[in-house]
Amino acid sequence: MKNLFFGVIATLVTVTFLFSCSGGGNDKSESSNTTADAPKSMVDDASDGKDAKIAAGKAVFEKVCQACHQADGKGLPVSFPPLAKSDYLAADLPRAIAGVVNGLSGEITVNGTKFNQVMPAATLSDDEVAAAFTFVLNSFGNKGGSVTAAEVKAVRK
Ligand code: HEC
Repeated sequence: MKNLFFGVIATLVTVTFLFSCSGGGNDKSESSNTTADAPKSMVDDASDGKDAKIAAGKAVFEKVCQACHQADGKGLPVSFPPLAKSDYLAADLPRAIAGVVNGLSGEITVNGTKFNQVMPAATLSDDEVAAAFTFVLNSFGNKGGSVTAAEVKAVRK
């Protein structure tokens, strides 16, 4: 019984020790990863500004918009309207951008279906919203295009 007790303590100490060691190791590998990634994104930026913007926008979309509008951009019935082939988006881009930066509520019709929900104002920079819209415009069967930070700033209240 006594041996078992000491065995458990020894295991706990070992586990704690291993955890703190691997924690330190992760910190180191994370910072070296960041350094390794930096030249790659610089190459992307240099090769094509729009590609880089779409890539940045994809990251914003995955972090923020996807939770509601879904990974395929098709939204969910009743709750979240589709961004995929959205006629609401295509009809008036500044209106759509304004909805994201200032929030949007009340009845809207997207691709013939009515939605009456609330989209909270995104807590994103003009650059992030511009990138997210550029990604959306070039994805999900939408017609393409690009949005600048200045265009986002112009509709921000
Ligand atoms: C918390 C959930 C949520 C998040 C996060 C969210 N939206 Fe929305 N979005 C909605 C809802 C709900 C509506 C419809 C609001 C209404 O019914 O008036 C909407 C409407 C829209 C519309 C107009 C309608 C359409 O389908 O074309 C666009 C464009 C849009 N969102 C883009 C975005 C983008 C881009 C992001 C990320 C930056 C985002 N949304 C994040 C919930 C969300």
